[in-house]
Amino acid sequence: MIPETVRQELAGGFAGESQANRKYLFFAKKAEEEINFAPSAEVADLLKEVAELFRETAEEETAHAYAHLVAMEGVHDTLENLKVAFDGETYEYTTMYPASVQAAKAAGREDIARQFESTSSAEKRHAARYERMMQRLKEAYARAN
Ligand SMILES: [Fe+2]
Ligand SMILES: [Fe+2]
Repeated sequence: MIPETVRQELAGGFAGESQANRKYLFFAKKAEEEINFAPSAEVADLLKEVAELFRETAEEETAHAYAHLVAMEGVHDTLENLKVAFDGETYEYTTMYPASVQAAKAAGREDIARQFESTSSAEKRHAARYERMMQRLKEAYARAN
């Protein structure tokens, strides 16, 4: 049993490390794109080194994220993981993104509202796929018993 205060710290750590991982991978891609416009071979070489540094660090952030998720008992058996994933996607398309769409519209940012809307429909598909897979796995386990 993990004390709630510690669980919250782990959840914060997991969120931060996960974001750092994705961010560094995007930064690496950007550095690689900039190589094409480098004003010198020296700059190009350094940009390549920067991209490698971002990718290497991203990998380490993934290890940190994983350790935090495991410590907060966030990795379950696969049926339970599918349920957790289904619940997360469902929350996103039924609650989170609808509020985001409203906020963007209220601020006059129709472009961002549309981005939230299209992301939301993808989450709805993700939820449906997880639900279907959960069902198939449950049935397969039932047949195996
Ligand atoms: Fe880290
Ligand atoms: Fe999703």
